[in-house]
Amino acid sequence: MWEFYLPTRIIFGRESLNRLGIEIKSLGEPVLLVTGKKAIRDSGILDRVNRILNKEKIACVVYDRVSPEPDTEVVDRGVTFARQNRCKVVVGIGGGSAIDVAKAIAGLGLEENFASVAEYLEGEGTKRLSSYGLPFIAIPTTAGTGAEVARNAVIINKPTRSKRSFRSNYLFARIAIIDPTLTINLPQKITASSGVDTLTHLVEGYVSRKANIMTDVLAIRGISLVGEALISVYNKGSDLEAREKMCLASLMGGVVLTNSGLGIAHGVSPFLGALHGIPHGVANGILLPRAIEFNLSSRIQKFKSVALALGEKIEGLPEEEAAYKALSAVERIVKELAIPRNLGEFGVKSEDLPELAKKSLTSNSTRGNPRQVTYEDLLEALRKIL
Ligand SMILES: [Fe+2]
Repeated sequence: MWEFYLPTRIIFGRESLNRLGIEIKSLGEPVLLVTGKKAIRDSGILDRVNRILNKEKIACVVYDRVSPEPDTEVVDRGVTFARQNRCKVVVGIGGGSAIDVAKAIAGLGLEENFASVAEYLEGEGTKRLSSYGLPFIAIPTTAGTGAEVARNAVIINKPTRSKRSFRSNYLFARIAIIDPTLTINLPQKITASSGVDTLTHLVEGYVSRKANIMTDVLAIRGISLVGEALISVYNKGSDLEAREKMCLASLMGGVVLTNSGLGIAHGVSPFLGALHGIPHGVANGILLPRAIEFNLSSRIQKFKSVALALGEKIEGLPEEEAAYKALSAVERIVKELAIPRNLGEFGVKSEDLPELAKKSLTSNSTRGNPRQVTYEDLLEALRKIL
């Protein structure tokens, strides 16, 4: 038995941002625009959005307090801000953080007796949503997180030093507008780290315990798109065709992770972010090769397909050797993107590893890993990348 669920309407294509005004009109106003502090303004995207909203005479308030590693406080303040301004719709525009904060604010916007999003975090709080909040439109400006079609928001809870998901079927965006032209000016480093995040979603989702035929089809096509486009877009950011392919891969990765879950790389990477400030995509770039190595023997056929999708020549090779090519392909990509190779570069010390392993073991992603994983397995894998 398996389940596949995606209630979000997807609008994909160059200049599709222009549809925003009409879509908001059908949902209500004023609109709350949630975004980061700087990048959207500097890149001119915020001006583009304002022009579109002005054209339709849509009332709008901006909440631009989102930093790259958002915490419970930024969500709580956003909920208060949305209520004070009586917002009827929430639009999240930016990278995964802005979309996640917007998603959480929308989800909690109508919640009665609301105190803090901390009460809704997995493994931390006990409250659950029982209905939809404010209608939410997600507009990604990076190709990576797939947050526009995911039903979770990843939030740091400072008091417990954890990075946790606020997850609910009521958090799905009403509409995702994916316009590849918005990613054209992404800095090279973010192109690399968000692209590796996408690759990790696709590979981990493809081999996960909960994978099914629907997620398999999306994952393997997404992996081949990453193989075709990621290095090109890293070397030439203005390549709109390659940008478009990465936006598609990211979208597919988001649908996959939502429906099949992930694995140990995503079991560990949020804690590398919360405890050591390592950017999510970079952490995944360091972890993914070790995750593949650990899982290889349990999904030989699937890793063979990953190798093939990434352009490796596997014809005539024995099964295991062919599957192993998936590991060398991913290692080559990560190297070409100049992703750091180990955690030591970020100041992680060997005495930090037990806490990391212990916390990672409690993650839902770790539970979805194809091979059962113990505390000792995690510790050993972490030692290898220290
Ligand atoms: Fe991720």
